[in-house]
Amino acid sequence: MTTALVPGSFDPPTHGHIDVVSRCVTIFDRVVVGVVANPSKEPLFTIEERKAMLIECCPWDRVEIAGFDGLLVDFAREVGADVVVKGLRAVTDFDYELQLAQMNRHLSGLMTMFVATKPEYGYLSSSLVKEVVALGGTVEELVPPIVAKALEGRFPRHG
Ligand code: PNS
Repeated sequence: MTTALVPGSFDPPTHGHIDVVSRCVTIFDRVVVGVVANPSKEPLFTIEERKAMLIECCPWDRVEIAGFDGLLVDFAREVGADVVVKGLRAVTDFDYELQLAQMNRHLSGLMTMFVATKPEYGYLSSSLVKEVVALGGTVEELVPPIVAKALEGRFPRHG
């Protein structure tokens, strides 16, 4: 049985994230979505809120959603992951993601595979989604409905 670990902040999950998970479902026997409890930036949504959104947005039997703290390599060992899978949007992602992948490989031999995101999600990021909603824009085509609703709750529109 092969297990893929898809880690991230998911603050909040976007269609880009769900696309990566959905493609892992077609390749791996088990997919663990690892939600980092304390991302480098102060999250908008709590770990429980981010996990709850992912549970709703990942309706596949072989997907598990779990939070983690500490090193990714330790969590990967804990859940029995064979490989980490990350989405790559553009070359701008590549430098940083390669650095993480090589550090993880150095730390424990953990392998990382990259999935090219769908072109239509190439510009999509959780940070931009939050900024657009905070400034009164619409992101309904970019995030699952439950996420759009949660964002509206955080940044209510006036008038
Ligand atoms: O969605 P993000 O913010 O790009 O996800 C980054 C994440 C959570 C995958 C990365 O920050 C991570 O692996 N954090 C866990 C801490 C860790 O292992 N740091 C060393 C990485 S080489």
